[in-house]
Formats: sequence, structure tokens, C-alpha cells
Amino acid sequence: GKNVKTTIAKVGQFVEREVTIGAWIAGKRSSGKIAFLQLRDGTGFIQGVVVKAEVGEGIFQQAKNITQESSLYVSGVVRADDRAPSGYELTITKIEVIHEATDYPITPKEHGTEFLMDHRHLWLRSKRQHAVMKIRNEIIRATYQFFNENDFVKIDPPILTGSSPEGTSELFHTKYFDEDAYLSQSGQLYMEAAAMALGRVFSFGPTFRAEKSKTRRHLIEFWMIEPEMAFVEFDENLEIQEQYVSYIVQSVIKNCQLELKVLGRDISKLEQIKAPFPRITYDDALAFLHEKGFDDISWGDDFGAPHETAIAEHYDMPVFITHYPTSLKPFYMQPDPNREDVVLCADLIAPEGYGEIIGGSERIHNYEMLKENIESHNLSLDAYQWYLELRKYGSVPHSGFGLGLERTVAWISGVEHVRETIPFPRLLNRLYP
Ligand code: 4AD
Ligand code: MG
Repeated sequence: GKNVKTTIAKVGQFVEREVTIGAWIAGKRSSGKIAFLQLRDGTGFIQGVVVKAEVGEGIFQQAKNITQESSLYVSGVVRADDRAPSGYELTITKIEVIHEATDYPITPKEHGTEFLMDHRHLWLRSKRQHAVMKIRNEIIRATYQFFNENDFVKIDPPILTGSSPEGTSELFHTKYFDEDAYLSQSGQLYMEAAAMALGRVFSFGPTFRAEKSKTRRHLIEFWMIEPEMAFVEFDENLEIQEQYVSYIVQSVIKNCQLELKVLGRDISKLEQIKAPFPRITYDDALAFLHEKGFDDISWGDDFGAPHETAIAEHYDMPVFITHYPTSLKPFYMQPDPNREDVVLCADLIAPEGYGEIIGGSERIHNYEMLKENIESHNLSLDAYQWYLELRKYGSVPHSGFGLGLERTVAWISGVEHVRETIPFPRLLNRLYP
């Protein structure tokens, strides 16, 4: 039949037919009679087989000499093959080199992390990075699907802001003509305003934190999903979180089988992630840590990574740590009506040591209480006037949360460090490439 132009992802529709694909050479090996070209086109990877006896000396030499990352149009007959990871192979009939790559720096040998990070613009082409980006994309896709199916409206909060709620030490400062401006650390306060207009809203966008942290969980620029819901109180907030997180995990298992395999992810650990998730109060978590021999923290201290990991190890599910001391959390969180020294908040800690993936709470909806908190936190009443006003006109109980995308991708992919979960990571010591 006629030669069709297609992609690697779609070759299954053309078994035993001749197709043409625009591709790059990911790798190559050959003998005197046969050459194997590892082809990639972005949609996937496939092995191309060039048999000298079938294609003749000219095409065979072309295949033998082709260099890693050269680009080409390659034609061949699609063969179903159970041994191939994608299920298919291509019996090559024709090669048309578009651009010959010379001395591609990322060779099949081992490279150090700094070298790979310096070449991030090329490293993204690797099979492993390709798999991580596909899983990131699936989590984003499933996020939009989940919230749209549950009557949420996508809202985009501003990135340039005049003030910031999550603490003043970690702000990126910039000029806004003659005024001062800051890059957003969270869209939450704007999402609260939007929830009063649209009921249930979610955002997805970049956030910035000038944190001097150099850990496997910290980025300077990261992407956050921030739902906010009117008429939703503490418990229902947690229920929505566990349903959402279960949904994205199950979506990745369903739609990213190949990618999880490339990454060597233990899928049995993901399959059991289903709502409801266990909950433990800060007080009980502290008692648990003391039992485990952690004598470095007392009531009122925040949990560090080792504490979170010790708690998480006790469960095979993500775990909510609830009711943190008021002093540890931002000014907008609703105090527990039975106990003023803790707030109606929860952090969701991922299993396997991936740390906190969600922070959320019920918000204060009483005008006087919020005003007092703004003042006692030494924040400017002027700057928060608009936010306070939300409590003046039909104030309602409401709650929300923020899920850190990169930490979630790291956990689900089983990737050790968040630097591999965002295309171009911004780290304490890295603004390049
Ligand atoms: O716990 P955080 O600071 O919560 C907020 O910003 C709330 N205003 C969200 C809300 O209620 N709408 O951040 C939320 C999540 C964390 O749980 C973590 O997953 C991620 O954002 N996160 C980071 N991820 C990567 N690098 C960093 N430096 C991060 N800081 C927070
Ligand atoms: Mg937090």
C-alpha cells in the first residue's frame, strides 16, 4: 500500500505496512550483516532493524555510520514483536538523514549529576527523562480531569503580587515600576476570593520560594495545584485530597505503564494507594516520634525530613498529619474551636520518604479573628484589606490546599530528587540552562 507518515506511538495501526517516521538516533549497534538503530521521535522509542542482505550495501553503510542524535526520516515495515518493549519493531527500507550530529556529549557511558544538569537541554532526550516528563504530563492531565468532573473551575491567580502569605523571608523581590512587587509563593488568597465567586476553584501555576534549602525535595521555582472550596470544612477538605491523590496515582498506573517500567518503579506500592488515607494528629505524631527515640523535638517544633520519613514509614499509604500548633502555621488558618493552640490544618506526607506533598487547612472566616491575626503577625492591614473584605460580605466556612507537583511526580515515578521532575529546575546553585 501507500507509504504513510506516522509517529512511533501510532505504529500499531500499521502492522505489516510501510511507514515513514521523523526520528532521532538514540543509540546504535551493528555487526557486519545487521544494524540495530534505536529510534526516538518524542512519542516513543522503537528499534529499527537494517539487514544488509535486504537493503543493499548503500543503505546498510548509511545505517552503520549514522551518529547518535542525528535526525532523519526513516521508512520501514512495522512488525509486531512481543519481545520489544513497545510491542513493535521497524524493518528499515530507507534512510534520509536530515542533520548529522557530531560528538553528542551524553554518551551511553555513565555521567555525573552536575554534568547531566549542565546539559539538561539535551539530557531531556534520554529514555529516563522522557518517562518522567510523560508521567508529569499524565498527572497534570488527570488533575484537570478530576477537578472538571467535580465541578471545579480553573482560575489563574497573579504571579506578580504586592504581598505574600507564606512568610516574608522567602520572597523574590522585584520592581513594579515605582512600587515593590514579589513573585507569588502561593495563589491561595486570590483563590479564596475566586471561591466566593465560583464556589469550587483550582489553580495550576508556578510559585517561587527563595529558600536556602539544598535538599532532594526543594526547588526555588515549583508548580502548585491549589484548590479552594466554599462551604467545605476541615474533614471534607481531607476527603477531597485523598480522592484527588488516589485518582492521579491510579491514572498514572493505567496510562503510563511503559514509563513506570522504564523507571523500574515498584507498581505494587502504587496500586494500594486508595482513599481513605490514615490520619494522625501532630500530638500523636510527636508521641510516636518520642517512642521511636527522637529526642530532638518537643511540642511546638516543626517536623523535619527525618521525622516525616519516620512517620511515613509506619504506613503504606500517604498519611495526613493534622492539628499542628498555631504558632507553626500562617495567619489565615482556622483555630480548632476546642483548642486554640492548634489549627484545623493537615499536611499530607507521601510514603517511601518523599515527604510533604500537600499543605492545606480550613481558613478563618470570622472578620474580627482574621483582623486580629493580621495585626498580631505584623502584616499590613492595608495590603490585606481586600482579603479581609471577603469576610465582610457573606463570609462562609471554606478550605483549600496546595499540592506540590514536583514532589508528587518524584514519589509516583520513584525518582530520588525533584531536579529530575521539572524540565529546567531552578535550584539554590543553578539558574542554567
Ligand atoms: O505547604 P505549602 O507552603 O502551602 C501553601 O503554600 C498553601 N498556601 C497552599 C494552599 O493551602 N493553597 O506548600 C504546598 C506544597 C507543599 O506541600 C510541597 O508539596 C510544595 O508545595 N512545596 C515545594 N515543592 C518544591 N520545592 C519547594 N521549595 C516547595 N515548597 C513547598
Ligand atoms: Mg507546608
